[in-house]
Amino acid sequence: MKVLFVAAEAFPLAKVGGLADVTSSLAIALHDLGHELHLMLPRYSDITVPAQNVPKGNITVNFMGNYEPVSLKVTSLKKRIPVYLVENDHYFGTKEIYTRDDLERFLFFSLTVPALISQAGLHPDIIHCHDWHTALIPLWLKKAKMKVPSIFTIHNLAYQGSFDQQFFLESGLSSVWQKSISPSSPEPSLNFMSQGILLADILTTVSPTYASEILTPQYGVGLEHLLDYRSKELFGIINGIDSDEYNPATDLYLERNYDSSTVERRVGNKLALQKKAGLPQNPDIPLIGMVSRLEEQKGIDLILQSIDRLIAQTRAQLVILGEGREHYHRLLGEAALKYRDRISVFVARDERLARLIYGGCDIFLMPSRFEPCGLGQLIAMRYGAIPVVRHTGGLADTVKDLTDGNGNGFVFQDFTASEMQEAIKRAEESFYHQMDWKNLMRHNMKLDFSWRTSARKYQEIYLRARTMSRVQQLQ
Ligand code: GLC
Repeated sequence: MKVLFVAAEAFPLAKVGGLADVTSSLAIALHDLGHELHLMLPRYSDITVPAQNVPKGNITVNFMGNYEPVSLKVTSLKKRIPVYLVENDHYFGTKEIYTRDDLERFLFFSLTVPALISQAGLHPDIIHCHDWHTALIPLWLKKAKMKVPSIFTIHNLAYQGSFDQQFFLESGLSSVWQKSISPSSPEPSLNFMSQGILLADILTTVSPTYASEILTPQYGVGLEHLLDYRSKELFGIINGIDSDEYNPATDLYLERNYDSSTVERRVGNKLALQKKAGLPQNPDIPLIGMVSRLEEQKGIDLILQSIDRLIAQTRAQLVILGEGREHYHRLLGEAALKYRDRISVFVARDERLARLIYGGCDIFLMPSRFEPCGLGQLIAMRYGAIPVVRHTGGLADTVKDLTDGNGNGFVFQDFTASEMQEAIKRAEESFYHQMDWKNLMRHNMKLDFSWRTSARKYQEIYLRARTMSRVQQLQ
């Protein structure tokens, strides 16, 4: 099948979070299954394109009172997958992937997609849209009378592209808005995501547990009724990771390479990480690592509430890498100053350091409030770090508590500081039994978190969407 992915992020061209890893690694996995994959994303100013790039398309769009020129440049992913970059200086002349004007920027972006597909002569069998930035595409396809089946994947329901009445009117969206698809379907709320949920042929999200969680008021962020209405066409497919890219045996960013038969070499990474973090270098102290966007979703509040206790009641060191809300940067920075020889915080996005954390820490912490899938715990396990996670979304699907038999980590249920502390304490105790701990590391490193199974599930979804649209056309 010829499949076109449309997204705001794709690694390594443009990345803020896990969305970027998934769009490109899933595209590669599907390509390796024999499909023809294409990607389309905005051209942010620091994406370079090969010199003398001949545009695959040029259009002018009348948008919010202005004529905007758009051209389609081409580059590639791993030299195998063509990537089409939608270029317009006014909206995407910035280095930043996300700015304060995202509603307008991604409205514009999604609006250009059908015309650019035609101009470039792409003729995809499937259009696969990722997250709210592309959620209007099924609507635009409908308006353009293009009969290609659309898939919409929710990577995070918390970001919906919500707007007010004024934007609704001024942007022209009010005149095309799809209110419902049948008399019984709930009204979509004023955000991009609701249109994707209503109009895409098939909906997916990134883990089975999250797929059922989002049908409840606790996790549905106001869209639970609409999702419930479409629940027959909603599927949860767990994300994989690119197991060539994330391989401790070959990872060039690590201080020492190792595999499940040489886990003792891993200590070289731990010592290097302790040094880099300015913490005492001692292999016997349990080292907790975290690589995360520093947002409310990720449970940073639980960590802040727990710091004094963890310092008093464990011997553990803590290394955190990530960026996000200013407020968290400041409070975590203060904690690191207060406990210099126990806590180290790097406010940055740094792939090299991230790998050293995966390959050097003993315990990997993800106390998320909600987690559609989560990739950190998968990478951590592949690198032999034992996860401590909250039982939610993809974390619940991939990490089972050790007490449940055949477990692979430490899991807590309720989003409270005391439950998290208890799970960390249990992990610390286990760490001191090094024989068993090393066996657990070896066990986890051999688990399969590749795309193998999940890419096939997407393939089934595509086939289903094609059959559905054929049936619809016959009716
Ligand atoms: C978002 C979600 C995360 C998921 C990722 C890729 O970043 O928060 O849980 O793993 O998308 O699907």
